[in-house]
Amino acid sequence: MEHKRVFVVGYMGVGKSSSGSRLARLMDLPFLDTDAELRRRHDCSINALFDQLGEDGFRALERDLLRELVAAHPRVLVSTGGGTPCHGDNLAFMKEHGTVVYLQMPAAGLVDRLRGRADQRPLIAGIAEEDLPEFVAQHLAEREPAYSQAHITVDARHFDGDRMKSVRSLIEGRMGFNP
Ligand code: S3P
Repeated sequence: MEHKRVFVVGYMGVGKSSSGSRLARLMDLPFLDTDAELRRRHDCSINALFDQLGEDGFRALERDLLRELVAAHPRVLVSTGGGTPCHGDNLAFMKEHGTVVYLQMPAAGLVDRLRGRADQRPLIAGIAEEDLPEFVAQHLAEREPAYSQAHITVDARHFDGDRMKSVRSLIEGRMGFNP
């Protein structure tokens, strides 16, 4: 079977799962979400996984899951966790096995979307609301060099309708990725 894999990457709160599932529907690909898959398999929250295993343990699970999903799914759209492309060789692995799409949003927009939702995200759970803008700006700047190596970058603030169809064409137009 022909391989058709898409990986959606981007910062916490940018909308990888919701945009990813819509893009998957548009492309007629099965949709998977690495965080949701880890929660389902371990029957607990991502916070609980961080508590039990530490961040290194969580990153090992995430790494192994990515490889397992690729081995099992020649056709799939995978929405990843915000840190997935920033650890180990995950980014190179995803680029080798499919098309990587970066959903990009300026830090201010991300902060608006993350306000009040920190409790579900271990990396920002301990950060006071007033410190969130500075944290996100710096953290995003650290991660941007990884995210920006994606094959395709899209503005998450305007990712619907025609723009989603253009991204589908870009993905399908990439070498070795014709429908
Ligand atoms: C993380 C993002 C989270 C989750 C974990 C770590 C990160 O996923 O994987 O809390 O390192 O940015 P979302 O991007 O879906 O929030």
